[in-house]
Amino acid sequence: MEADIKTTPKGFHCCLCNVHIPNQSSLEQHVKGRKHQTLSTVRSTRKSQEERSVFVSGLKPDISNTDLAEYFQRFGPIADIIMDKNKGVYAIVQFEESGGMNTALTCHEHQLKGLKLKVKPREKKEFKLIAKKKNDFQNLQEVFDRLKPELCNQMSVNAQMQYMVERFQLGENEKKARSLLIQLLQEVFVEFFPDSQIIPFGSSVNTFGIHSCDLDLFLDLENTKVFQAHAKANLEQAGEGMSDDGRSEDSILSDIDLSTSSTAEVLDLVAAILKRCVPNVDKVQVVGTARLPVVKFHHRELNLQGDITLNNKLAVRNTRFLQLCSGAEERLRHLVYTVRLWAKQKQLAGNPSGAGPLLNNYALTLLVIFYLQNCNPPVLPTVDQLKHMACEEEECVIESWDCTFPTQAIAVPPSKNTQDLCGLLAGFFSFYAKFEFASSVISLRTGQSVPVETCQKEADEAMQEDSASKPHRGGPKIGPMNILDPFELSHNVAGNLNDRTARSFQKECQEAEKYCRSLQYQSKSNKGKSWGLVRLLTPHGEARQARAELLTISIPFKSDVLPGDLRNQQHFAKDAFTLLWFQRVCAVVEGIFLNILKCHLVSAPEILDAGDEVEALNSSLDDSGFSVESSVEPAPNTVAKRPLSSDSEDGVSPQGKKPRLSKRGRTTLSPWLWEQWHMVWAGRRKVRRELIKDSEAKAEGSCVELETQVTSHITEKEPELKEPLQFKLRPQVVVATESTSTLLKFQPIRDSAGDFQDFFHFLEVFLPKMVETMLMESVDHV
Ligand code: UTP
Repeated sequence: MEADIKTTPKGFHCCLCNVHIPNQSSLEQHVKGRKHQTLSTVRSTRKSQEERSVFVSGLKPDISNTDLAEYFQRFGPIADIIMDKNKGVYAIVQFEESGGMNTALTCHEHQLKGLKLKVKPREKKEFKLIAKKKNDFQNLQEVFDRLKPELCNQMSVNAQMQYMVERFQLGENEKKARSLLIQLLQEVFVEFFPDSQIIPFGSSVNTFGIHSCDLDLFLDLENTKVFQAHAKANLEQAGEGMSDDGRSEDSILSDIDLSTSSTAEVLDLVAAILKRCVPNVDKVQVVGTARLPVVKFHHRELNLQGDITLNNKLAVRNTRFLQLCSGAEERLRHLVYTVRLWAKQKQLAGNPSGAGPLLNNYALTLLVIFYLQNCNPPVLPTVDQLKHMACEEEECVIESWDCTFPTQAIAVPPSKNTQDLCGLLAGFFSFYAKFEFASSVISLRTGQSVPVETCQKEADEAMQEDSASKPHRGGPKIGPMNILDPFELSHNVAGNLNDRTARSFQKECQEAEKYCRSLQYQSKSNKGKSWGLVRLLTPHGEARQARAELLTISIPFKSDVLPGDLRNQQHFAKDAFTLLWFQRVCAVVEGIFLNILKCHLVSAPEILDAGDEVEALNSSLDDSGFSVESSVEPAPNTVAKRPLSSDSEDGVSPQGKKPRLSKRGRTTLSPWLWEQWHMVWAGRRKVRRELIKDSEAKAEGSCVELETQVTSHITEKEPELKEPLQFKLRPQVVVATESTSTLLKFQPIRDSAGDFQDFFHFLEVFLPKMVETMLMESVDHV
């Protein structure tokens, strides 16, 4: 029996594939099966690579693969060089033969570009199958699916809401693990930034955290700045040497001087400390473009995503505010957990990687608090009222914003509102179902919504009055939804939302309001049907549409990447020209799938071919170009159809007639149906690198040729999929005032192995670039 197979009380376990096998005959099939065979091959290839490669450290970012190849080939022919993702810290040099590796290892000193390189044998790692990471939505869906029967068994909506909090909230052990990690980080950072403090904020500590939520941290360097200033002054007084508390000047002053360094420099140092000095930390990344620049990291053992920001005192303070609110009013937590899950299920919240057009959790929490301030009688006081409940010592001003509120929840008188959770939740939906989002600004300070114009006028006046003392003040960014931060009054916490999200939010509130009036919401089903929260939290309608839109790739119109012949036709009326461009894009896309990615065409789209005149456009579309209205389909009896991949030169039909744009400025073709038999998206970079290395000429050749060869290489070498991936692709042109684009809407039809998402991620990057390249090049390739 293979070493990978272990006998268990219930049958067998394959350690390589990490699967349970019930009996002997299934075991035989499994061992002969594709998964087991492929993994065995991958493992032996890895092993053989390990036995031919060395680990090189002591590099600098300006050392390139070519530099390393040139240096190491003196020990033997090189098969591959892999640099680490963070560039320049280490590399793996793989020789073609183990002899090359041995010779390199026996050499005592390695010098490259004046650097002393450390060259070691590679660590022998046990080969392990890493489970495919599920996205947030899949995870949540699974958790919720498991929860459904238990929720249905509860006696009331109130009980369901309480149960949900119990199941989702951070457990004591999780909290302890987080605080130990914070302690460790504190110990490490204080070595580099004396007297600094690591302060947690956000979901880990705001009482609304769920299992595996992010760990948001603020690195407070105020005291370090003071320390550095003293140390500097002492040095100047005493000449060189030690500062008065005995700390070596080398410890920090040589690292970074906070009085002169930029945020980017400090963040780079934070990233370097995380990478080199904190055990179990990986995936360290500086994101300097965020509203608040941040260093992201991952803690392997806790499987935790962490963010470290600087200059974020306001977030720590607003976290205290959320803690105060949930301490003062128990019902808040239940409502926030439910609303957060509802919003995630309906795809209204939870931007992947932080940025995006959806609501963030902080904004959702503020929406719940604002609603509770507006209940009759109020469930929570306004922020202005809280300010008056605070005593003198609790006064707090941060960056000149008034952040005063009581420290203890006991200072807040209990609410006279006695509504239960079930009623309050229904009230939340009906409150926002009719809320005038676009024309008003939500203010938790006053507990009222202010007309947008008033808010802007007030901001202008405040700016004139205080410009000297409060230089940062300006009006909030006004958008389709406006929620003023309770303290930083120039910040709209929903400023990232687009029209579509704001509209969907309201539409979902309207649907939820309707549902909450039904018996299914209020009373338990005795027939085992879904009721109460279960129906409310199940994705439907808008969410399905939102998910479909997640599978859309947009190709924006760019006049500088038009093929010469199309450029010459720009004199056509705008709409006619748009259609020519759209047809050309579609033809290019078809070429990419057919010739470059070697997909099989099962059926092609057909295009409207009606009328010579192009209708005037009604471009009243939102900026995003996404409209929830259904797109215009050809009426089968009134128009002739022809395949898109006609051999016409310029997109005009053989009869010389042009398709028309619909009145709403969009035209949709019937979909292509494609099949893909190979994982042409996997390992492309490596194959490309090898092909370029094999032939200098190829590197200089057309990118289309190279990509075609990459696919051929993959399809020749890699086994076919057991079942082809089948997907629909529906092209649509959208003409909006700001931008014209072709939307490519994908829909997986057959995806038994769950590969489509990976294929789509690859296409998201590959397609727009390739279309651009092919539009610029001649149309011969299509
Ligand atoms: P999140 O929106 O991430 O909330 O903001 P969260 O409760 O931590 O939820 P998850 O689990 O990480 O998604 C994190 C913190 O960032 C601050 C707030 O302190 C919030 O609690 N924040 C966020 C702001 O101060 N302003 C914003 O606009 C957004």
